[in-house]
Amino acid sequence: MSDRGAVDGVARPGDVRAYAPGRVNLIGDHTDYMGGLVLPMAVDLGTTVTGRRGGHRLRLRSEGFDDVLDVGLPVTDPAAVTPGWGRYAAGVAAELGAESGLDGSVTSTVPAGGGLSSSAALEVAVALALGAELPAVELADLCRRAETAATGVPCGIMDQLCSAAGVEGHALLIDCATLDVTPVRVPDDAAVWVVDPGEPRALVGSAYAERRATCEAAALLVGPLPRADIAAIESLDDPVLRARARHVRTECDRVHGAAAALAAGDLERAGQLMVESHRSLATDFEVSTPGLDRAVEQLLAIDGVYGARLTGAGFGGNVVALARPDAEVPGRRVRPSAGARLR
Ligand code: GLA
Repeated sequence: MSDRGAVDGVARPGDVRAYAPGRVNLIGDHTDYMGGLVLPMAVDLGTTVTGRRGGHRLRLRSEGFDDVLDVGLPVTDPAAVTPGWGRYAAGVAAELGAESGLDGSVTSTVPAGGGLSSSAALEVAVALALGAELPAVELADLCRRAETAATGVPCGIMDQLCSAAGVEGHALLIDCATLDVTPVRVPDDAAVWVVDPGEPRALVGSAYAERRATCEAAALLVGPLPRADIAAIESLDDPVLRARARHVRTECDRVHGAAAALAAGDLERAGQLMVESHRSLATDFEVSTPGLDRAVEQLLAIDGVYGARLTGAGFGGNVVALARPDAEVPGRRVRPSAGARLR
């Protein structure tokens, strides 16, 4: 990708302040780990890590959590670190091979566990605070590996890359096979909302890993799913493999179509593709919940809403809606924002 994606990390001793945004995915879920297309945007909610570099410990307090992360460097087993929230930060320190420490605190406006990438925002902010000086793709991949090491969840790269490479006023079309990032302007007459139906997320880690494994099994039979032959997918014997593969294949087409529609200012079409995406995630991929389905239907009944869908891994979390700015959406409006930075 271009230099635009390079994250400006300047490792100096002394005080640091690193910020990384959360993201909302407009369309393209459960495609990144199969090398497919995604269209997330970094939002104006984010995580800030402030502190003083030095010493040989990573010590972070977090607003909202009582327990302090206090771990010696280098970190060798981030999954064993307590408290749980600190594993993401410890994972980043482990992947960086950090030996020089940080003593500071974490504040965040990204709701935890809502599918808005609070964990990716924390990882990217910690990496910058610890002095990572990497192009956005490498920073994101390091943070993705950190998350898997810390939690065991075999996540894709979308969340971390969006947080690292966000462009103000734009969503990012990411080809997760090549890691090419193409900013797509979000038109001024389009507003994006996130709506929390208030359902707790459950079983995300194991169900996520199971979905990924099923997709990988299907890809062994029909080739890389984003480009697989639809007829070959439809002739898979196993109905579960067939449905999961169909979702990934058709979702990539929808992302492509939605990026083109957004660029052309065709919000009706972009919204329609979001609705189709939700239905595919609900039926073929089976990661929706009754609460998410209800929230989508309620949003679609509101005047001025072009489309709505679950966003992120599913199994709970938030719904994203694309609407006219004057639509009366019962949620939080989010704005397409710049990516991570030291400041
Ligand atoms: C989570 C993962 C991402 C992606 C989404 C589903 O957010 O971290 O890599 O797979 O789920 O699209």
